[in-house]
Amino acid sequence: MPKSIIAGIGMYVPENIVTNNDLLQYMDTSDEWIKERTGIKERRYAHRTEETTTTMAIEASKIAIERAGITAQDIDFIVFATLSPDYYFPGCGVLLQRAMQMKEIGALDVRNQCSGFVYALSVADQFIKTGMYKNILVVGAEKHSFGLDFSTRGRNVSVIFGDGAGAVLLQPTEDNNRGILSTHLHSDGESAEILAMYNPGTHANYWGTKNYASFNDAPIADMFMSHAMIDNAQNFPFMDGPSVFKKAVVKFPEVIMEALEKNGYLPKDIHMLIPHQANLRIAQYVQQRLGLKDEQVYNNIQHYGNTTAASVPIALCEAWEQGKIKEGNLVCLAAFGSGFTWASALLKW
Ligand code: UT7
Repeated sequence: MPKSIIAGIGMYVPENIVTNNDLLQYMDTSDEWIKERTGIKERRYAHRTEETTTTMAIEASKIAIERAGITAQDIDFIVFATLSPDYYFPGCGVLLQRAMQMKEIGALDVRNQCSGFVYALSVADQFIKTGMYKNILVVGAEKHSFGLDFSTRGRNVSVIFGDGAGAVLLQPTEDNNRGILSTHLHSDGESAEILAMYNPGTHANYWGTKNYASFNDAPIADMFMSHAMIDNAQNFPFMDGPSVFKKAVVKFPEVIMEALEKNGYLPKDIHMLIPHQANLRIAQYVQQRLGLKDEQVYNNIQHYGNTTAASVPIALCEAWEQGKIKEGNLVCLAAFGSGFTWASALLKW
């Protein structure tokens, strides 16, 4: 059975750099608080009207496709991960297919938030292994800046997120010493509401209000989207940060160890760990738990914030461009986020 290799990788971040101090004009926060609690110094925000999640994905994809030495017309499947799609439906996959003038190929959208890219990669890997497709474009992209609460009320969420896109081009290889060794996907919906954007949606408060801490005084959601939802700021993401943090620091090491054990490796064997860039403190905790050296972990949240589905491919791309990942290296990708969902992938570059 063939294995999948990353034959090309690309990333795109918007030009507009937004520092922590820039956020002071909207909300009561501080550079010190943001740096100390998250490690973030700055993030990028897309142009409000001239960039979308899909246009950023196009830029990243062009680079990945060129580096793989193929053209957009050679691609036979798209897997697109995002939580901030251009439209509620259809998904970004078809917009990418249209904009890049690809053939009438399959386009699948994945909505697994922070672990979306690793999930997407895993799906693509199965299609390569079965021989069904030969050139799969896997994308993670987000335009968060369009949908955050920039008042003090939303500061625990809004200071964290940034915009950007990453893409990889997956191909089969018969080389036994290279490729994706295994992927590991998990979920636990028990805490679905503690990191979520409830509206627009069809829930009508069906799932109860116990977890809707910030919305207890909000009216019953009896419509997909209503004026009342907007008046009550129910159209923004909600996050109970400390609860997410506590679960993340358990599940990250667990799913990394699962990947290593499955393939007979130890943490010391990892050349590069690319953790989803949720919070520098989470990544540092994971590094310490696994006993990894600084040069074994790549972090760039300082410059881009948390770009959700885009964070893993952006970090992977940067690490590779900086020569920190070379052919034959053992690379581990790991992510945790809303759902909760978490995932890892172990590969030989
Ligand atoms: O990628 C998706 C998965 N998401 C994550 O993994 C996020 C995980 N969680 C976190 O990263 C952290 O919980 C946060 C960075 C979100 C928050 O850090 P924290 O150390 O857990 O702070 P906290 O939420 O416990 O808030 C501490 C204080 C509160 O004030 P009081 O109640 O102690 O007076 C907040 O109101 O900090 C306040 N606060 C802020 N202050 C200044 C919250 N956000 C801000 C802010 N600026 N932006």
